[in-house]
Amino acid sequence: MARFTPEFLDELRTRIRVSDVVGRSVKLQRRGNAWWGLSPFKKEKSPSFSVDDNRQSYHCFSTGQHGDIIKFLMETKGMTFPEAVEQLAAEAGMEIPKSSPAAAEEAELRKGLIEACEAATVFFQSMLRRAPGRQATDYLKNRKVDEEQIETFRLGYAPSDRTALRDYLINKGFTEETLVDAGLVIKPDDGGAAYDRFRNRVMFPILGPRDAVIAFGGRALDADARAKYLNSPETKLFHKGDVLYNHAAAREASAKSGEPFIVCEGYMDVIALWGAGFKTSLAPLGTALTENQLALLWRQSDEPALCFDGDSAGLSAAYRSVDRALPLLKPGKSLTFVLLPKGQDPDDLIRAEGAAGFERAFGDRRSLADILWRRETELAPLDTPERRAALRARLRDLIKGIADKDVRQAYGVEFANRLRDFFRPVTAPGGEPIPRSRAGFERRRRYRNESQRLFHEARPLPGLKQKQLELSPFRRGGTLILGLVNHPGIIQRQEEAVLGLDIENPDLDELLTQILGMDLADPTLDSAGLKAHLHQTPAAGTLQRILSDETLIIQRFLRPGAELDDADWGWKDALRHHLLATSATREVAASASQIFSDGEEVWKSAVLAREERVNSGDFSSRGEADGEVKPGEVDERLRRMRESVAAKRGAKPFKN
Ligand code: UTP
Ligand code: MN
Repeated sequence: MARFTPEFLDELRTRIRVSDVVGRSVKLQRRGNAWWGLSPFKKEKSPSFSVDDNRQSYHCFSTGQHGDIIKFLMETKGMTFPEAVEQLAAEAGMEIPKSSPAAAEEAELRKGLIEACEAATVFFQSMLRRAPGRQATDYLKNRKVDEEQIETFRLGYAPSDRTALRDYLINKGFTEETLVDAGLVIKPDDGGAAYDRFRNRVMFPILGPRDAVIAFGGRALDADARAKYLNSPETKLFHKGDVLYNHAAAREASAKSGEPFIVCEGYMDVIALWGAGFKTSLAPLGTALTENQLALLWRQSDEPALCFDGDSAGLSAAYRSVDRALPLLKPGKSLTFVLLPKGQDPDDLIRAEGAAGFERAFGDRRSLADILWRRETELAPLDTPERRAALRARLRDLIKGIADKDVRQAYGVEFANRLRDFFRPVTAPGGEPIPRSRAGFERRRRYRNESQRLFHEARPLPGLKQKQLELSPFRRGGTLILGLVNHPGIIQRQEEAVLGLDIENPDLDELLTQILGMDLADPTLDSAGLKAHLHQTPAAGTLQRILSDETLIIQRFLRPGAELDDADWGWKDALRHHLLATSATREVAASASQIFSDGEEVWKSAVLAREERVNSGDFSSRGEADGEVKPGEVDERLRRMRESVAAKRGAKPFKN
């Protein structure tokens, strides 16, 4: 990038006063040696922004930002370094150093094309004001485009005659070759006479860097026209996939306001949004966003908002953008999605409901992860284990496509969390209802049934061991999680059960989410790789705790050396104990909470039902061997609780 030498840049700073550059956007007043004004970086009432021409710099005392003329343009207009330098050099009348004669010639050629486009813009603008442009003016009026919008976007009219523009520009001294190269005029291959590309259309000039017109879009006024919108062809100036309509102005607005870019589909949408006060709107030119366009967006805006029609076609377009963006995501750089009412583009919405209509849709914009989740969960019903496994496989595949490692892992955790929410039973241990979305209700019901199935299956199997029942909730959950850490293969084998796990301890719960996130982001990791990764997450401390917990590591199946089959068997056994223990806790707690709300009768019947189940052997172990729970063991806990409740009641009797 030795394009601009330090000498060149010094010369630039010397020739242009900072106060001149800054003075165009900030009102400055002289005080002593310096100029003062309100900070362009922050809303304030008294001036804390100073400009010193001698030092060739500005300083903002409220934000601490300072720099020279180049940095000022970069920070307030969102320009890149070369763009700022080029603009300032043009202002100072300095020739930009050319790297080669060929490059110099190229620059000369581009200059000619830009001049032709500028002259064409002026021509189209003047045609809009004349008699033939009447139809176009009426059209714009009809679509509620006002004078200010017409001026700002330099809208114009291309007349119907075949050679109106050509004749005008040839008259001005442009060669036919230049007009063809600029995409304004078409020269038929058969040697016929050249004619204007745009005829009887409302004209939308497309600006490139430094506000130069580099191409046009034209909307047909004639309903029978071959294409509703016609764009300039690819030229030396214009590469459709690298350009965004209204880019420079939107960038400046975004740099000033901090608002994200609003990406819509068409010219009229940008103009309508601008008119409604959304100055950061821009649009690609009739195609889906390209990789280059995404890069342009992300240069200024961390999370550009893409607008789509809420109908199914709009939604599939949104999905395509998700797929395009996913591999390119970088830390902090994502997209959001504005879903508009069915059948409406931003222009329609604003005309129907005004700025407030769009504001509402914009306020409801969804994250990329949300949209992706929606697509993947709505793709097919999730009513069988196979279909749910397919969902997880798809999520894995999608996450695998994210090139950036940190983003990939973050998505792993995000989707692991969502999957867990999806699979968890409806009540948490302790009977607290888990907040749930309306849409997820049906699915949750299914997964609750699933977890109850596991619970029922558990009963005929070897009963509760005393030791297991006495394990603290931390060790009970820790057993399960240590099993997964030392034998990640279990995750695949017992995926539904793992995802449905209710872990009471929040630290362990976080550790489990990290494990499942990693399993989604990189399913090939072995135990060592998994541990290495987990040590870098917020759950590292918890991992350390279970890795060194002696009560846990005496369990043979948990040890790293155990065969996967044995580990798997041991794990399932631990899961059964866990389900029985958490379920018991839950029922006890539910009864306890009911007695306070519903009074004596409910309490009695809850206890009776409980006793009945315990006596019928439902909750008991099969053998009477040492260390196993005897019938009535759980009942004993209930009795103690009843006593403590009664004691409380004695102190403070129930009121009926
Ligand atoms: P739409 O067809 O959605 O039209 O095209 P629109 O913007 O709502 O147009 P109005 O409201 O009927 O005037 C969206 C964008 O797709 C490109 C243009 O860039 C247009 O702004 N397009 C559309 C074309 O390039 N060619 C076409 O024939 C149509
Ligand atoms: Mn429209």
